[in-house]
Amino acid sequence: MSALPPTTDDTRIWDIWESMFILPVVTVSIELGLFKALSDATLTTEELASQLSLDARALALLLAALCSQGLVDKRMGRWSATHEARRWLHPQAKAFWGAFLSLDRMPGVNTLHAPLLDAIKTGKRPQSRSDAPPEWERPSMTAEAAAGVAAFMHAHSQAPARGTSVQSEFAEVASVMDVGCGSGVYGIEMARANPRLQVGLMDLKEMCVEVNKYIAADGVGDRVQSLAVDMFNEPWPTGYESHFFANIFHDWSVETNKLLAKKSFDALPAGGRIFLSEILMDDEGTGPWPAAAFSLLMLLSTLGKQYSLCEFQEILESAGFTEVRAKRSGGGYYSLVSARKP
Ligand SMILES: C[S@@+](CC[C@H](N)C(=O)[O-])C[C@H]1O[C@@H](n2cnc3c(N)ncnc32)[C@H](O)[C@@H]1O
Repeated sequence: MSALPPTTDDTRIWDIWESMFILPVVTVSIELGLFKALSDATLTTEELASQLSLDARALALLLAALCSQGLVDKRMGRWSATHEARRWLHPQAKAFWGAFLSLDRMPGVNTLHAPLLDAIKTGKRPQSRSDAPPEWERPSMTAEAAAGVAAFMHAHSQAPARGTSVQSEFAEVASVMDVGCGSGVYGIEMARANPRLQVGLMDLKEMCVEVNKYIAADGVGDRVQSLAVDMFNEPWPTGYESHFFANIFHDWSVETNKLLAKKSFDALPAGGRIFLSEILMDDEGTGPWPAAAFSLLMLLSTLGKQYSLCEFQEILESAGFTEVRAKRSGGGYYSLVSARKP
């Protein structure tokens, strides 16, 4: 086993992982008639959704993915198919690839086609038809589920946690509460990088059992403590100078995020800061691919999506925060969004 520490650049792994969406965004768009519609006319997202009977919010995520793959263009708010898409992906084009890309020819290869098609039509993730939401959306979870989510998120978050922890913002605050901390990897890395920083790791109580194991393994116990709090249904601890959320807002709708931002605002002191670690969509909704593909995963598995800085600005300002900023945080594709309570 390699003893090398993780670096902060895991973009190659992200690219490999997110490549799973490249084929389905194309096959779904062919089946929906999207390339034909955007060859015949330039349309807004809402016009295209209405013409093809699709969910406009979900369609916007698909269009961002197609745009970052060079298959559609957006000009002054209107979409059109690119020359490549018209030549190879229009069903009436002489050189149409559809017969080759057809699912019948490749049974079992394109397993994301059906759930993605369904989500773009309905705007809902496939499992929302059942009564049970995913484990992390319930007010409690089993010990087994908590261990699974912690391990899963820990593997995913190591590089951005390291990149984020050395940003100057965390040397400027005395304390930080990591809300919905998962394994606690972000807060633990922040404590390691900033010797005077006090860190609270907040998550559901079952997850805190796992968090305590990660704290013990990393030897930062005296400055890092777990906080068993249901962020929706229980009062938030006060006394922390800043709040940090990694991959939390992308799980939820704008309305729920406004609620979380307000809870954070109310629990912070004057001058307190809020930080979000997220992969940001650009302000035009045209990509980039790492955010657009991640957004499709959110569409399939959560109630959220990847947001742009403009969208975060609206959410954070609605709660009273000011000075909304973002910078790349040196952790793979992640950015650090920050704002201040006046
Ligand atoms: C997508 S994970 C993010 C984990 C971590 N921040 C990271 O990026 O590695 C979402 C986290 O939110 C937590 N969570 C979900 N609902 C919660 C609630 N009501 N109160 C507190 N934490 C919650 C989950 O247990 C999970 O750890």
